[in-house]
Amino acid sequence: MMLPMNPLLLLPPETAHKAALWALKSRLVPACPPDAGSLRVQILGREFSNPVGLSAGADKQAEALPGWQRIGFGFVEAGTLMPAPRKGNTGTRLWRLPKQNSVINWLGLPSRGPDVFVRNLRRFTEDTRNTMPVGVSIASTEGKAEDFEQLAGLVAPYAAYIALNISCPNTAEDLGDTLQSLKSHIRAARNGAGNCPVMVKLGPTDDADVLKMLVHTALEAGAAGFIATNTVPHDKRALLKDAGEFEWPRNYQGMVAGGYSGPGLLPISLFMMSEMRALAGPKVPLIGVGGVQSGDDAVRLLKAGANLVQLYTGLIYKGPRLVRDIKEVLARS
Ligand SMILES: Cc1cc2nc3c(=O)[nH]c(=O)nc-3n(C[C@H](O)[C@H](O)[C@H](O)COP(=O)(O)O)c2cc1C
Repeated sequence: MMLPMNPLLLLPPETAHKAALWALKSRLVPACPPDAGSLRVQILGREFSNPVGLSAGADKQAEALPGWQRIGFGFVEAGTLMPAPRKGNTGTRLWRLPKQNSVINWLGLPSRGPDVFVRNLRRFTEDTRNTMPVGVSIASTEGKAEDFEQLAGLVAPYAAYIALNISCPNTAEDLGDTLQSLKSHIRAARNGAGNCPVMVKLGPTDDADVLKMLVHTALEAGAAGFIATNTVPHDKRALLKDAGEFEWPRNYQGMVAGGYSGPGLLPISLFMMSEMRALAGPKVPLIGVGGVQSGDDAVRLLKAGANLVQLYTGLIYKGPRLVRDIKEVLARS
């Protein structure tokens, strides 16, 4: 995933990911030059040396934080951290769509649980040579409010922000339940988080009314801001108008599974960002993610209202050079 010329693409996807993390931890990746002062962003009560972050899912254990800092990311969203160790789904669960520069993942939130995660996070943030802010993504498989409170309490002393994963509802009937649990999860996380800002990561939607309800409800419940968007599940495939033709992969049980990420997400993340900025006003922190694979993509998302951007899938295809390329374009624009 991470080397120039990307020989990692020759390996099966999860093996490539493990090799990439190993290379990052072993300092085998070239260091990015220091950031131009013009890239600095002040948001969430912190200074970010540049606005380009690694999105959740790439470093689930917060195990390679110095490596991500070394290749030039302005911040990392580590996790998603789960309340207890879990293996995630069985069988093949990560597929590349090389013609589309996209992937479909059905990992099922594997996690080694809080002990290892907090140790890694703490070691990184307590070393004063490390200046890169780290956000932490948390979730609960059973949607228990206590899990959010407990996890937020554990990571808040070290995190620049805490991100809650929620999925957007499919129908207006589902919206009531979603809003109820959204409120209780935000309140619980805020109880644990103290002064650490609690952000909400949204799933993809093209429905401005649904987005309005989510944004207003979350802000009322005390969310600091929003991150959008997560991957597109198969039942929302119709959202992917520009993703090109591909066959959705099937899991070991023969079922279509997982969520799409890649360039086909960019129109959705751009739409959601401009709506969210209009709904939330100029001061609420917003992080744009989904389909960013070039400097121009990042510029568009920032112009649509994002304070910061994130990426993951672009790194799989383009390697660490992508971070540097994006920052060069941002510094010029
Ligand atoms: C392999 C993989 C694992 C992911 N795991 C998580 C996760 O644990 N938590 C989360 O909030 N998002 C997760 N995501 C979603 C990404 O954070 C991001 O929202 C999405 O991939 C869109 O950005 P991209 O097009 O730059 O990849 C994952 C994405 C991929 C490709």
